[in-house]
Amino acid sequence: MLIAKGELVNIRELRWGDLKYIQKWSNDPEVAYWARGEKNATDTPIEEFRRWYRSRSSSTIKRFIIETKDRKPIGSISYRDYDPINKVVVLGIHIGEKEYWGKGFGTDAIKAFVRYLFATLDINRIELDTFDDNIRAIKAYQKCGFKIEGVLREAKLIDGKFHDVIIMGMTRKDFEKIANKN
Ligand SMILES: CC(C)(COP(=O)(O)OP(=O)(O)OC[C@H]1O[C@@H](n2cnc3c(N)ncnc32)[C@H](O)[C@@H]1OP(=O)(O)O)[C@@H](O)C(=O)NCCC(=O)NCCS
Repeated sequence: MLIAKGELVNIRELRWGDLKYIQKWSNDPEVAYWARGEKNATDTPIEEFRRWYRSRSSSTIKRFIIETKDRKPIGSISYRDYDPINKVVVLGIHIGEKEYWGKGFGTDAIKAFVRYLFATLDINRIELDTFDDNIRAIKAYQKCGFKIEGVLREAKLIDGKFHDVIIMGMTRKDFEKIANKN
């Protein structure tokens, strides 16, 4: 089922058949580096993703598939750690098919997903973090209306080098301002 539509992509619910893509993207060292700041290649077996999928209703992470308009799965987008007291969720995204990087697909997916989250969840704020080298992600988030709220200096050690962690967020007020402009 589609949950959100952008101009370049649609976002739909995750299916059992998508686990092979999630495995491929998660185990890709370049994707893992940008998405999680992990320098070493992982080799997570499909069975681990299957176990997660079977128990996903109790998981704190809700994951969706980003697909092109001709239905090619190119990545995944998620929210996690819903805090009903403070009305906050944490957003995560990776475009796993690398030939789609830098062509507007990520920005389009984030915009559509943010609309979906504010429309369907009782939230006031979406937050995320990335690290200083991930300029492409920072720019994409800013284009969607996220603001840099703080920097945790040298909080992430990647491959022997300390990186600043960039904290970004968008409030419902920020979102409404953008929505009213369009
Ligand atoms: C981060 C991500 C979602 C962004 O989506 P995208 O489709 O690649 O990005 P977009 O094309 O929508 O926008 C990227 C912006 O960064 C710029 N950009 C693209 N490649 C860049 C690069 N290598 N270095 C710096 N800036 C770059 C683009 O010019 C664009 O800005 P502009 O419109 O002002 O010119 C996607 O690249 C991705 O999934 N990367 C791997 C995992 C990851 O980093 N996840 C986020 C973790 S917080």
